Amino acid sequence: MKERATLQLAADAQGLSKAAALVRQGGCVAFPTETVYGLGADARSDAAVAKIYEAKGRPSFNPLIVHVASLEVAREFVTLDEPALLLAQAFWPGALTLVLPLRKNAGISPLVSAGLPTLAVRVPDHPVAEAILSEFDGPIAAPSANPSGSVSPTTAAHVLRGLDGRIDAVVDGGACKVGLESTIVATGPRPSLLRAGGIPLEALEACLGASLARPDDPISPQAPGQLASHYAPSGQLRLNVDVPGKDEVLLGFGPVEASLNLSVSGDLLEAASRLFSCLHELDAMGAAKIAVSPIPELGLGLAINDRLRRAAAPRDT
Ligand code: TXA
Ligand code: MG
Repeated sequence: MKERATLQLAADAQGLSKAAALVRQGGCVAFPTETVYGLGADARSDAAVAKIYEAKGRPSFNPLIVHVASLEVAREFVTLDEPALLLAQAFWPGALTLVLPLRKNAGISPLVSAGLPTLAVRVPDHPVAEAILSEFDGPIAAPSANPSGSVSPTTAAHVLRGLDGRIDAVVDGGACKVGLESTIVATGPRPSLLRAGGIPLEALEACLGASLARPDDPISPQAPGQLASHYAPSGQLRLNVDVPGKDEVLLGFGPVEASLNLSVSGDLLEAASRLFSCLHELDAMGAAKIAVSPIPELGLGLAINDRLRRAAAPRDT
């Protein structure tokens, strides 16, 4: 990936409007929330979201949390059932993330939810995050601002230690109050805890007047990281194909003749940004057999190949 100078911005009016402007231009900006520092980008832009994955060096596409200014804004992107509404009203702004059904035509990049039909959202409780969200006036996708596999940062210095030269800017808003990631809850037929975090389980259960399914409950959904494996096109995928069969639709990479191409110029950032929309498009085309061009195992290619291998693996029926 290209090294870029990482701007260090103060949490004053000038720094905050620069941060919002960078997000508007499709950049990647780290900023404090009450839990940990997040690495934010415009959640509606495939290219901007791809930069998050690139900067973190994630070997897979784990879905990201979308940060919004208020419950009202969240409603533009997801639908809230009664328990979700109770929790949102009680704990937002705050360290609670809700995984909810994504609205059709919400305009969120499919890369944010890794192609899933649900979206993780929260309203952060931090003046810097609030100011950036209000000035940007849109949804910001933000995982914790650390390289993949290292611990979440709670100061701007931690962010720079891991990501200096890989992101556009960091806003220094001091140390995070909570210092632990948000608690993640999925509602639906049985509300469940997906990740323990800044808000204790007991507080959530008291609010709902009911218990939450735990990650180790056999009936609860799988742990968040694994959920990403659920979206795959219905056609059968064959990977590393130079010459597709007559009955196969080619998902190309590089200068090949293909029905759909991840990146004609062989740019991995572009390919990552288009991956989930291409997979959805193959479904829409009704493609039964899909061949995929070879994609190099480096940089974002690792995450792209990981995703494609999962999609190509035999399915449970
Ligand atoms: O406190 C926090 O939550 C911080 C700040 C920046 O908001 N963010 C954070 O993001 O910890 P991240 O990406 O490091 O963790 C997000 C978690 C991942 O484990 C991911 O799998 C899960 O949220 N997640 C996101 N979307 C999901 C979805 N649709 N279904 C299930 N899990 C999801
Ligand atoms: Mg994280």
